[in-house]
Amino acid sequence: MKKVRVGIVGLGRLGRQHAENLAFRIRHCELHAVCSVSDEEVEEAKREWGIPYGYTNYDEMLENKELDAIFIASPSGFHCEQIEKALEQGFHVFTEKPLGLYVDEVIRVKEAVEKHSSQVFMVGFMRRYDKSYVYAKQKIEEGAIGEPVLIRCYGFDPAKAMAGFMNFAKKNYSGGLFLDMGIHDLDLARWYLQSEADSVWAIGGAYDYPEIADLNDAETGAALVKFQNNTMGIFVAGRNCAHGYHIETEIIGTKGSLRIGTVPEKNMVTVFGEQGAIKECSEGFIERFEQAYLTEVEEFIQCILNQRQPKVTVDDGVQSTILGYACKESFETGQLIKVESHPAYVKAT
Ligand code: NAI
Repeated sequence: MKKVRVGIVGLGRLGRQHAENLAFRIRHCELHAVCSVSDEEVEEAKREWGIPYGYTNYDEMLENKELDAIFIASPSGFHCEQIEKALEQGFHVFTEKPLGLYVDEVIRVKEAVEKHSSQVFMVGFMRRYDKSYVYAKQKIEEGAIGEPVLIRCYGFDPAKAMAGFMNFAKKNYSGGLFLDMGIHDLDLARWYLQSEADSVWAIGGAYDYPEIADLNDAETGAALVKFQNNTMGIFVAGRNCAHGYHIETEIIGTKGSLRIGTVPEKNMVTVFGEQGAIKECSEGFIERFEQAYLTEVEEFIQCILNQRQPKVTVDDGVQSTILGYACKESFETGQLIKVESHPAYVKAT
């Protein structure tokens, strides 16, 4: 079978993991080119993994017609422009979340994706490929909890990742707490509740790390969302979790509820000692979602080989960005935001 030749842009915290998966763990796939603004990262990938092509300029990578697909793991502020350019050059495209940081740019991407409908396009909402989240979806569809009425999400990064985050955030590429971290939960809510948002109120603060307030962002924040089908969402996100990486989701239905990741266990081991019984917690996104990152990329490659589109669509990217942006707007203004009549949304349609 033909191998799909992929070029990746971004070799940072997550890009490196994706690159290793593409190079060594995905069948019918070859990592053929790497691109980063860091010459060091490019040279290291070429040398250590034997990648034939390396670039420090994205546009130059797009001139390589040996490639079939472009994989975008650059900072979020670059996604839209890089997606549009890659589609225009005829490549299949995978982009990390969020699709973009502004409503008008994601609407432009949607138009580009629709114009290039024979090219595969996928957004990296990897939780939709995590076994536990998939299982929960299946249980809901089987009626195990009746009709879902409320989703409660916790998304916390470990406090010990703060230095790396500040580096990322200072460059102003993250979009803030809700578009950067909350976006996964906002997408999951749409998936599980089967509805778009109606209105949102978001609050937050910088409690232990006041320097985050200087970036006009929240270290810890919460959003309350009413969905169009009268269901509800409570989203809590933060960067300062003492015990590790805590991603927890609860879906409450008319006949029961289910929870995913209530204790973010590292593994099956419990250590019994003078401190009591200790379950260590997962330390970061790669450890927790290793399987999901692999499965989503397998799906991308299979979509290319079988000429079909993935279930996660550009609309999922667009709608979650609209909702994430509304959360950000609400946090910044202190106002309740009606999502449909949000000025950026109206401008874009
Ligand atoms: P990072 O800052 O660690 O790495 C960014 C990489 O992109 C670096 O290799 C940097 O040199 C390169 N880069 C920066 N500007 C560039 C440009 N103009 N052209 C080419 N390369 C450029 O960032 P991180 O944490 O790896 O995040 C990358 C993306 O992945 C972000 O959009 C983020 O939201 C997303 N992400 C998704 C996660 C998930 O769970 N799905 C988890 C972590 C990040």
